[in-house]
Amino acid sequence: HTYVIIMAGGVGTRFWPFSRTSYPKQFHDVLGTGRTLLQQTADRFNGVCPPENIFIVTSSLYKDLCQQQLPKLSDDQVLCEPIARNTAPCIAYACYKIAQQDPEANIVVAPADHIILKEEEFQRTIRTALDATQNQDILVTLGIQPSRPDTGYGYIQYIPDSAQSVKKVKTFTEKPHLELAQQFVDSGEFVWNAGIFVWNVQAIVKAFEKYLPEVAEIFDEGKGKYYTSEETAFIDKAYSLTKSISIDNGVMEKADNVYVVLSDFGWSDLGTWKSLYEVSDKNDEMNVVDGHVLLYDTKNCIIKTPKDRLVAINGLDGFIVAEYDNVLMICRKEDEQKVKAFVADAKERG
Ligand code: GDD
Ligand code: MG
Repeated sequence: HTYVIIMAGGVGTRFWPFSRTSYPKQFHDVLGTGRTLLQQTADRFNGVCPPENIFIVTSSLYKDLCQQQLPKLSDDQVLCEPIARNTAPCIAYACYKIAQQDPEANIVVAPADHIILKEEEFQRTIRTALDATQNQDILVTLGIQPSRPDTGYGYIQYIPDSAQSVKKVKTFTEKPHLELAQQFVDSGEFVWNAGIFVWNVQAIVKAFEKYLPEVAEIFDEGKGKYYTSEETAFIDKAYSLTKSISIDNGVMEKADNVYVVLSDFGWSDLGTWKSLYEVSDKNDEMNVVDGHVLLYDTKNCIIKTPKDRLVAINGLDGFIVAEYDNVLMICRKEDEQKVKAFVADAKERG
């Protein structure tokens, strides 16, 4: 009864220009391993559940990309959203669909755009969580030891009971502001939310009913229509009605039955250029270089440019130099949060 839902509908704006609306980062071979982030995510669940129990939820724009990259998936395994409504509706769609077929389903929800270096450890952690959710209506998330006061993550405060591998969560705070994040990290009582969730289908349906009843009602209406020719029309209507909200804000912050498994499997959310810089191999000058480049007096940079273009750089320290398709971006690494504004401006000016 184990199922996996892979969320692959995000646009990855902070990774511009590499990540684009037409080709978001989960469909790129970001690390140069020969497998895209989406493919690596699916590979990671080999042996955790039967391949036919893996569902991808994505925008209808990316359906073909998903099927090209994971050719063994049947049509029914790629769930297409007509518009993006953030992760709560994405998860509701997949969970209510699975509920129709298997009321005893035990489900892992995973983002398509993370790096996980230690696969065996990852699978062990997932199994611990799945064991816990099999017979208990709890919402389990995976927690990562924080290394900096990053404001892009959820923070989880838990009851430190060393006898329990699945620990009760006291508070869940999605994307706190910097001072709060700093306090959380300094206290030593918090872990980052990895954004990977485990629950049985009854538990998450109950949580939707309690904390996001308007979303629950919409997707519950689909009972009997999922897996039929009526599904697409139903989903188009459902998405036109549902609000846009993340599972973190909509459910995890509010629920009182959240548990966490402390995890250490070489996790990284490749959310931004700096996060890619951190996990990549660096040369003697602490540059990360992927491209055809001549570097002079240049250090602490991340440079990702097309292989067929020679790039000469002199005197840069701590910069991102990224070229993809028809866009070149040069930005101080420290200013990477401005990337979102560049994207907005670029859209405006065409
Ligand atoms: N299908 C679909 N539809 N997928 C979506 C949508 C959507 O509307 N929006 C986002 N996703 C996918 C993204 O592609 C990504 O794989 C995943 O859902 C999470 O969305 P993000 O937008 O990347 O979330 P985040 O990184 O800001 O925050 C989440 O992850 C952090 C860890 O990486 C939260 O769960 C945080 O609490 C967490 O710390
Ligand atoms: Mg993310």
